[in-house]
Amino acid sequence: MKIKLICVCSLVMIKLSALTGQNALQIPPALYGPVYDLNVQNGVVEFIPGITTPTYGINGNILGPTLFADKGDVVTLNVTNSLTGTGNSTTMHWHGFHLPASADGGPHQVIDQGDTWSPSFTVMNDASTLWYHPHGDGKTDLQVARGLAGFFIIKDEVENALTLPRTYGVDDIPLAIQTKAFDVLHQIAIATEMDTLPMVNATVDAVADLPAQVVRLRLLNGSSMRTFHIGFDNNQLFYVIAGDGGLLSEPVALNRLILAPGERYEILVDLSGMESEVLTMMSFGSTLPSGMYGAANPSGMGMGTITGYDANPLNGSDFSLLKIQVIDQTADPVTEIPSSLTPPITTPAYTATRVFNLEPESMGMDNMVMGPFVINGASFNMDIVNEIVPINTIEKWRINNNTGIAHPFHIHEGQFIIDNINGAEPDPVDRGMQDVVYIPAGQYAEVIKTFSDFADDQVPYMYHCHMLHHEDDGMMGSFTVVAQDEVINDHIVPPLIYPNPVASNSTFSIVTEGEFERMEIYNSMGEIVYLDDFHQQAVNAYTIDGLPSGVFIIKLINGKNDNATTFIVQ
Ligand code: C2O
Ligand code: CU
Ligand code: CU
Repeated sequence: MKIKLICVCSLVMIKLSALTGQNALQIPPALYGPVYDLNVQNGVVEFIPGITTPTYGINGNILGPTLFADKGDVVTLNVTNSLTGTGNSTTMHWHGFHLPASADGGPHQVIDQGDTWSPSFTVMNDASTLWYHPHGDGKTDLQVARGLAGFFIIKDEVENALTLPRTYGVDDIPLAIQTKAFDVLHQIAIATEMDTLPMVNATVDAVADLPAQVVRLRLLNGSSMRTFHIGFDNNQLFYVIAGDGGLLSEPVALNRLILAPGERYEILVDLSGMESEVLTMMSFGSTLPSGMYGAANPSGMGMGTITGYDANPLNGSDFSLLKIQVIDQTADPVTEIPSSLTPPITTPAYTATRVFNLEPESMGMDNMVMGPFVINGASFNMDIVNEIVPINTIEKWRINNNTGIAHPFHIHEGQFIIDNINGAEPDPVDRGMQDVVYIPAGQYAEVIKTFSDFADDQVPYMYHCHMLHHEDDGMMGSFTVVAQDEVINDHIVPPLIYPNPVASNSTFSIVTEGEFERMEIYNSMGEIVYLDDFHQQAVNAYTIDGLPSGVFIIKLINGKNDNATTFIVQ
């Protein structure tokens, strides 16, 4: 009964603000380098007319300026933490950048209240829509939800040579799409499924005047949890020209686009000849596949629920994000969608494989969907480096989503190539450089990543789920990139077992890298049920007789190191 009431309440609130009219879409101010002063401060915003909500912002009440840089620039970012309140240290992460770990702004680069952190680095990324946001240990969700996030737009000669809209705020528009939850005191709330208020650039019921020509929208999902299914109410086609890390080889025409937390896409919309028409950018939650947060059913396996999920009227429904009023053309309009953009990416050969298993921390049907989740059996630990990567190598990272919900998996240090999703080619929109890969429930992704330029055996980079509640709950790990002579030869990557689950008394394969001497298999009681001593790089077609059905842990060991993977015998 009570849940029903809350639900009706939030519906009424959305309706009320819609009735009181639309609000002009805020465009974050542009800020140019090479030195950027960013003040992280408290703010106040009236999301709901007449009601003020405390927020955080960068150089303002909420969100931050859009930073512009050219590829090759040496930039310095002076980030000052002026937040009030107790224990409000922060961090600032340059999401998507290829830069030294010490400048990355991960959980280890804490900015205490009153302090300024000033990383400096060369912009090496191609033209792209990157972003920045805090990344404190267990603090990301709250600080991002309260308003800390901004765009970082990179330009380069390749992009400049194309006929594309690029007048910021006129035909080139950043759109930070978010939903937020509020508690009874109108404070922004996290770790609740009641993120009932959609907003774009922190504008509720936003309306933008866009010219009757080709316009470029830079989409960012800055939400804590929600996946959007972007499209227009008139089902108009749009053209995806860039993913997370920059331009695709050619525009991809679509009328729906899945946008998971942390992801960016640039789209072109041709508004030519539509003067004085009105169209609405929507999220079509009703057609979002099951197993994505935001769909009618967040479970990809048809089993398990998230407590409180069904009470949110946005889940599984279509809602508007941005109303577009088409106005007159500008003096120098772009009127055509380019036919090609950049040469297609060729996937380089990799020399090592690492395996990451996304799993619920504890068993249980609902935990398969709700979490908390862990990676390779472990929750994030500030004091542990989970993986050591030798510099100047190309690796394949296989991420097994052994959970009931899709996760947007993000890797720091720069961009990667999605080789496949469950063995199949990624969608055309994901065939450029990416820093987030969205992995459906029960499936896997394989990405190819080059690790280059920056060795540091002390400061780690992160990999994690970009659903911020999952991340803060520990669904994150760390890696260092180290000089070749520092690579400990006996580092063992987690073994890859397939098939997994395996039928009892049948043959299965174990693939790993690094030398190991011993294999141990434990049952769920922690008892050794099998062991073997051998000296090999990899084992294939191994048969183990007599394992009863259940969950087992296989551990590969050498003198100094071990690594383990869970597998299931049916
Ligand atoms: Cu956008 Cu590690 O984060
Ligand atoms: Cu990042
Ligand atoms: Cu997740």
